[in-house]
Amino acid sequence: MKRIQIINGPNLNLLGKREPTVYGNQTFEAYLQELKNQFSDLQLDYYQSNIEGELIDKLHEVGFSYDGIVLNAGAYTHTSIAIADAIRSITVPVLEVHISNVFKREAYRHHSYLSDACKGCIVGFGMDSYRLGIDAILHFD
Ligand code: DQA
Repeated sequence: MKRIQIINGPNLNLLGKREPTVYGNQTFEAYLQELKNQFSDLQLDYYQSNIEGELIDKLHEVGFSYDGIVLNAGAYTHTSIAIADAIRSITVPVLEVHISNVFKREAYRHHSYLSDACKGCIVGFGMDSYRLGIDAILHFD
């Protein structure tokens, strides 16, 4: 059974409550259940942290053994050389995802430190970005 790790960064624990006009009304837990139903032949693990070092620890933990990582690093996308280095340090492919289309938003969201360390990026498809990320890992290995 293939193992995929989803990692969400800061403030994504508040999905469903946080800026619903940007991120929608669904909690990640509810969406995760849909994903698990849809990908019942996968082991789909989920981790969320608001702390940069904890995200790096999780990348290290799963980054040599899983089949893929779907990462939404939240605002750390735009600030974190340390997370970019962690992605470069592991062997498992990382797919960068964003719920919102960051390129339609503030200029400071247009640059990602992570993109060139990742296998690819999926941006702006709402929660469906995560499903597309999993599909990309499965089909473009
Ligand atoms: C986000 C976009 C980031 O700019 C923002 O800081 C987030 C969420 C997204 O999924 O659209 O926290 O990564």
